[in-house]
Amino acid sequence: MAVPRASIHGEWSSGLVFILAATGSAVGLGNLWRFPYLVGENGGAAFVIIYLLCILLVGLPIMIAEITIGRRGKRSPINSLRSVSLEEGRSRRWSLLGWLGVAAGFFILSFYSVVGGWALFYVLQALLGSFGGITADAASELFDTLLASPGSVVVWHTLFMLILFVIVAAGVRRGLQRAVTLLMPLLFVLLILLVGYGMAASGAFQEAMAFMFRPDFSAVEAGTILTALGQAFFTLSLGMGAIMVYGAYLSRQESIAKSAAWIVGMDTATALLAGLAIFPIVFAAGLEPGEGPGLVFVTLPIVFGEIPFGYGLGLLFFVLLSVAAVTSGMSLLEPATAYLTEQTGGNRAQAAALITGLIWVLGIACGLSLNVWSGFELLPGMGIFDALEFVSNDIMLPLGGLLIAVFVAWRMRLSSVVSELGADQDSAVFKTWLFATRFVAPAAVILVFLNATGLFG
Ligand code: PHE
Repeated sequence: MAVPRASIHGEWSSGLVFILAATGSAVGLGNLWRFPYLVGENGGAAFVIIYLLCILLVGLPIMIAEITIGRRGKRSPINSLRSVSLEEGRSRRWSLLGWLGVAAGFFILSFYSVVGGWALFYVLQALLGSFGGITADAASELFDTLLASPGSVVVWHTLFMLILFVIVAAGVRRGLQRAVTLLMPLLFVLLILLVGYGMAASGAFQEAMAFMFRPDFSAVEAGTILTALGQAFFTLSLGMGAIMVYGAYLSRQESIAKSAAWIVGMDTATALLAGLAIFPIVFAAGLEPGEGPGLVFVTLPIVFGEIPFGYGLGLLFFVLLSVAAVTSGMSLLEPATAYLTEQTGGNRAQAAALITGLIWVLGIACGLSLNVWSGFELLPGMGIFDALEFVSNDIMLPLGGLLIAVFVAWRMRLSSVVSELGADQDSAVFKTWLFATRFVAPAAVILVFLNATGLFG
């Protein structure tokens, strides 16, 4: 199978649109929901620092590698990996790496959509004015009641999947491109406002800063490092083909390395801002930073319930949270949808329907594992939701990322890579990237895996 000259799915209208779309994929629940609660659960600053190292040393080089494969192959990850590999004189079995990504996308989206459903539920609560004067206890109760109700969890998950289906079926570019351009900057501004509030009014900003940036490495365990690495892959949408397939729609004129730097920078800034928005509230309200997945959903309503314009700001925040979740969810669907569209000769709507349908069913199981099936363990100590989250984020994404790095840095010809990146082979930047992709990133993933299995005692 030869590499096509242009993607059959079309192209982004500019390099900037690619950056926005990929940032839309990267910035999502991973930044606003998962990052703050992981920081809280893993003791704060030490986790933040390990996470930042993973982003820089592992995430950034692999993002460049992943876009490189996508743009070279111009198709879904499965087909791009097969054709690029053949073109490089390598085994067609590299397409299995695309399948690994499709499987990871299924698992991730099934729990992601449940949390996306929570965000939609909070939009409704904001509309109804439920946050007005809410106490910390009442805010916890609102969240716990939602999770305890199988009916609500399933209904909101269903609504989230329906929204994704409508957008992905219509094709990624129309409408969404426009929505992302407007809404991503708005989200950023709102986060800065919330951080400003924490600084000026909460009385706990110092405490929050110390919690996030003054490390105590004595608390770090093997599991903490694996969690930080998994979160780095998850937040950057790496290791499963989402960024690869977006790269397939990028025109040849644009610089891959510069785009990647922007995407990684904006994603990291958003996560740190989310932490700085949330922890002052946590400490000021006397809540526990380690309270787990309910953290954003419990803390922010308290603030929206007491500040001026809280009604409007609260509504805006949860709308933006939902939008951020939708733009990420779309990219989780895209690798499988693009593949099925290619294989069946082009009906994207049918492909999207089949895939969303399958993930919807798996998502129901995730949702029910929070209430009626909470006694059932899929892995030791983990229900369906937690097990899928662990296996996909902490195992499949780093493994996928490792193989992507190996493919680009060890299996592709250097001349192909240089030409795709438009790089000067002797420049310091290119050499640094190549070294990171050949050695640092693979070694880091392998060491973290070994470490987590307890081999280092
Ligand atoms: N990066 C997204 C987030 O932070 C989640 C995601 C993971 C999207 C993997 C695509 C692929 O919310």
